[in-house]
Amino acid sequence: MRFDELIRARRSVRGYEAAPTREDLVKILETAKQAPSWKNWQTARSYVVESAEALEKVREALPGFNQNSSRNAALIVTTFVKDTVGFTNGAPDNEVGNGWGAYDLGLRDAYLVLAAADLGYDTLIMGLRDADALRRTLDIPEGEQVMSVIAVGKRAKAPVDKPRKALADTARFY
Ligand SMILES: Cc1cc2nc3c(=O)[nH]c(=O)nc-3n(C[C@H](O)[C@H](O)[C@H](O)COP(=O)(O)O)c2cc1C
Repeated sequence: MRFDELIRARRSVRGYEAAPTREDLVKILETAKQAPSWKNWQTARSYVVESAEALEKVREALPGFNQNSSRNAALIVTTFVKDTVGFTNGAPDNEVGNGWGAYDLGLRDAYLVLAAADLGYDTLIMGLRDADALRRTLDIPEGEQVMSVIAVGKRAKAPVDKPRKALADTARFY
């Protein structure tokens, strides 16, 4: 698929019939690793949930509507290592602080959802989740900030096309 077609093919899907194979999940994560990051520090982390038992527990950390949207998909819980990216000797380099870690993780996850689309899978990034419950269930270290849960799978339901703002409303040229 051409890059511009891939970009437009990716939409948030809220209904799945099957999860990816382990092999494809590894391919998606390997491609996503190529995302740029601050000083190439690569602080993004992934907790890949595939087994029925683990999925059941992780899904409890999602609100009902996200549980419904992500049924039958694999779930990737994404985190970043805190106080690293954007910091020198423990002090923030500027006013953004750990926002830079979130920035890097967002870039990595953008690559991840596009890599999934390239292999014929759909995704749903979910920011509405219970971070403490995810941390307990997956034993995520306190030094990591829990961010999204990303559903990955084969679609059972077509996505709704969401309009984008006009470029003039979001970009200025000087
Ligand atoms: C950081 C982030 C958090 C999101 N959280 C949720 C969520 O909890 N539940 C949900 O259904 N969609 C969630 N979405 C999906 C957005 O609603 C969706 O990306 C947006 O409406 C644009 O639609 P599109 O992805 O189909 O282009 C989230 C997206 C992002 C980037």
